[in-house]
Amino acid sequence: MTGTMSATILILNGPNLNLLGSREPDVYGSETLAEIEASCRDHAKGLGLEIDFCQSNDEGEMVNIIQEAQTGCAGLIINAGAFTHTSVAILDALLALEQPVVEVHLSNLFQRESFRHHSFVSQAARGMICGFRGQGYVLALDALARILKDKNEA
Ligand code: DQA
Repeated sequence: MTGTMSATILILNGPNLNLLGSREPDVYGSETLAEIEASCRDHAKGLGLEIDFCQSNDEGEMVNIIQEAQTGCAGLIINAGAFTHTSVAILDALLALEQPVVEVHLSNLFQRESFRHHSFVSQAARGMICGFRGQGYVLALDALARILKDKNEA
């Protein structure tokens, strides 16, 4: 990283996360995705990072977005929603990506149904943050900021 240009972190959200706020608030919290985006923007500013925040209900579109992240972003935060537990295509796209990946889930997957205990995404992620609802995204930004700082100092 040089001079005044700040690194961009892509934050990618999968299916049904557009419904946050009204979707099972006892499980996912009452914050909307727009509110989570606003806290991420605010927090990223303090870390000297830019964010690109997006959501898709479509697996193929998510694969395209991950492929495009190869250029122009320094790291990826992903909540792949239900595709976490099903998508080898998203795993393969993440494995092809050179930038560091941090996995986020609002709910604590390990307190839920056993089909949510396995994540394909985890195989390509530096780590996973789950159970802290919307705050998980902000924690993931801190984790990525540290990873990028260590990389730049190496
Ligand atoms: C989720 C957990 C997934 O199991 C679920 O399908 C989601 C949301 C979470 O953020 O807790 O859609 O990724």
